[in-house]
Amino acid sequence: MTIHDMALLDEWHPVLLSSALTDRPVPVIVLGEKLAVFRTSHGVHAFKDLCIHRGVPLSLGKVKGDELVCAYHGWSYNGCGTCTRIPSLPADRAIPPKAKAFVYACVEVYGFIWVCLGTPASPLPNISRYIPEGFKEVFMGPYTLQAAGPRLIENFLDVSHLMFVHEGLLGDSNFTEIADYHVVEEDGVLRSEEIIVYQPDPDGMGRGVHSRYVYEVFGPLTVAFTKRDRDTDHIFRLFLMVLPETEQQSKAFMLKQRNYAYEEPDEVFVQFQDLLIEQDREMVENQKPELLPLDLQAELHLRSDRLSIAYRKLLRDLGVTFGTA
Ligand code: FES
Ligand SMILES: [Fe+2]
Repeated sequence: MTIHDMALLDEWHPVLLSSALTDRPVPVIVLGEKLAVFRTSHGVHAFKDLCIHRGVPLSLGKVKGDELVCAYHGWSYNGCGTCTRIPSLPADRAIPPKAKAFVYACVEVYGFIWVCLGTPASPLPNISRYIPEGFKEVFMGPYTLQAAGPRLIENFLDVSHLMFVHEGLLGDSNFTEIADYHVVEEDGVLRSEEIIVYQPDPDGMGRGVHSRYVYEVFGPLTVAFTKRDRDTDHIFRLFLMVLPETEQQSKAFMLKQRNYAYEEPDEVFVQFQDLLIEQDREMVENQKPELLPLDLQAELHLRSDRLSIAYRKLLRDLGVTFGTA
């Protein structure tokens, strides 16, 4: 498949948690492209997952001496993709210059491995600029969902589903009205005004809270919300970064930050998020059309959907076509 979505081609996509990449290559999919990601003493690398010799996935191979060695006939590729050794070749013969792996840009920052298939718009994923320090952090996921990336993002930005899909946890069906709010754009970030939602159990700790939500959209597939407890100084921030594997299959990576309950074990928050994702899964995997319609006439919008509308406009302005219709 050839992709013409320059916005997503030039974007950094999270492909793995840093902790998931150890001493063996891992296959990943970005925008329909299969890649082998591996780690050497020089850093992290992403190759097209195909050995030029006989087309075996390089991710079946192993990392040896800072090189990726193909499982089939042992061709060895260095981090630049150059083949440095062909075991069956007599020592006096030169390695053909065409013996190369196709290399993609790959970096490791902020606990994730990131890949860019095109020309990176910035040297590093810009998300680290938006992740404040000094909070207790938990990584969640990645969650694989049979849904388009933009559908997942829009679900995350959707306030008025909380009282139904997550009733008893993130919302209460007796308190469903959403007061008017606006969305502003500052320095390329879309930001909602505060939206107050009553939440019976917003974080899995079983305590009801009036949460003041501010949503932020940092990029086509990178968003967050910050919730402040109306009555305490508790702050809860959740980042969602979506990897578009194919148009209708995505991986959701989440990072949660908080300034309270420091002693609480990570599993409490992870298990709670696992539950929420399963509730959302039923919606996003069944929505029609599967691809997010960017034509604002295509679905019916309310004022409380302002954020979704702003998000769809952003995708249209950026020219995002992968996962949209
Ligand atoms: S297919 Fe990779 S070395 Fe032959
Ligand atoms: Fe949800």
